[in-house]
Amino acid sequence: AQTAVTGALRADQPGAVIQPEVYGQFAEHLGRGIYEGVWVGEDSKIPNTKGYRNDVVAALKQIHVPVVRWPGGCFADDYHWREGIGPRDKRPTKVNVMWGGVEEPNSFGTNEFMDFAELIGAKTYVAGNVGSGTPQEMAEWVEYMVSPTKSTIANQRRANGRDKPWKLDFFGVGNENWGCGGQMTAAHYTNLYRNFAEFVRVPAGTNTVKVASGPNAEDYAWTETLMAGAANNMNALSLHYYTIPTGSWKDKGSATEFNEQLWADTMVSTMRMEELVTKHSAIMDKYDPEKKVGLYVDEWGIWHNVEPGTNPGFLYQQNTMRDAVVAGVNLNIFHKHADRVRLTAIAQMVNVLQAMILTDKEKMVLTPTYWVYDLYKPFQGATSLPLEISSPNYTLGKSSVPAVSASAARDTAGVVHLALVNVDPNKSATVTIKLTGVAGKAAKGRVLTASTMAAHNTFDAPNLVKPAAFTNASIKGDVLTATLPSKSVVVLDLN
Ligand code: AHR
Repeated sequence: AQTAVTGALRADQPGAVIQPEVYGQFAEHLGRGIYEGVWVGEDSKIPNTKGYRNDVVAALKQIHVPVVRWPGGCFADDYHWREGIGPRDKRPTKVNVMWGGVEEPNSFGTNEFMDFAELIGAKTYVAGNVGSGTPQEMAEWVEYMVSPTKSTIANQRRANGRDKPWKLDFFGVGNENWGCGGQMTAAHYTNLYRNFAEFVRVPAGTNTVKVASGPNAEDYAWTETLMAGAANNMNALSLHYYTIPTGSWKDKGSATEFNEQLWADTMVSTMRMEELVTKHSAIMDKYDPEKKVGLYVDEWGIWHNVEPGTNPGFLYQQNTMRDAVVAGVNLNIFHKHADRVRLTAIAQMVNVLQAMILTDKEKMVLTPTYWVYDLYKPFQGATSLPLEISSPNYTLGKSSVPAVSASAARDTAGVVHLALVNVDPNKSATVTIKLTGVAGKAAKGRVLTASTMAAHNTFDAPNLVKPAAFTNASIKGDVLTATLPSKSVVVLDLN
């Protein structure tokens, strides 16, 4: 049996540009996210360039990571930047109280992060410490990174090996300050935000986007209070929402062992992103009708139980075809809201939560989610196009969602790209789309699919889930037809 889906693409009615930063990554000092995942140190046997592992750097370059958010997460409001600069053997060893109570050697600090971003060609997004820091500490951190002067702090940067200021593209004024970032009320944080943000000062002629620490999921009251009190002091507001397959933080379910009901429940949970983005945007519209303030979904992704036998504080999880479908669905939602959603950061880049990459010492494996980011590359910087889809629902038990999710955009070379996700794990879908304003006469692209819902790549079998050429699409006149396999992510170029 097949699902029959129809749609209409209006390429003659271009929308907002999908900022490349919608494809951003989050990298926290958490488990093996930074240490081992990115940074192995210059003396490591793992092949590296100045301490950064070569395999991971090459893989990240391949998907054109546009921006990396660092150092947290919850870690950020416990982080004191001065402990992470200067000779590495002199830096203090701290306890990572948030994540596993393990030793934090501070060997990856500001210089290492900023240089890493330069190495992979990504913009920099640094999250500052409001919860346990001061405006002065924050101001001096910014000065250390961006000051072109010969101030004592700027000269410290030079002494640590960096003459020219770095470009600090985005600065987060705290993280989850309603929770691990200080257990604040919205009103209290709003005042603190105004205060701290004032001291994020960058040299004339340069620009750093100031990001306010936004709501958790459906906490609309947080957005309301913050926008009412500080819309004019911010350039962006963050939103965090995680997909929890079981709906329970206590037992989120296994990444690899799940039944179809959990697959269906996961899809319902992940599609809540549409409602969250819509409703938070509507509140923002009241205070910022010109949409000057971006909505940055700077933590999102699927959160499973950790892999058996691993440190519960390290949040290390496998990544299956289910995760890939979740990624595709969310990216389609972000494309649709490109006017407000101008940056997102999937949690997290390596070895943590819904990662692009998993490592085991010298071994590395690319996850199905990585391949979705690879497929979706043409959408970075493309102009979103309205695509109305009428899809029957995929239903199991109480869970019911449209079987096919889709989005479209035109890149700067004029080529239209279509992303189609079939969330039904059993039935293929025939998609028929009426094209208006599309010059392309042929459709070709790639597909990511697998024979089972839980298919994943391992260190022993790293290529089980990998994109393949997609040949089941054609254009006749002004109609595109494509037959999507069950549980698949397809990206087409209309050329
Ligand atoms: O990504 C893991 C954690 O989830 C982050 O540190 C925190 O901001 C969120 O609660």
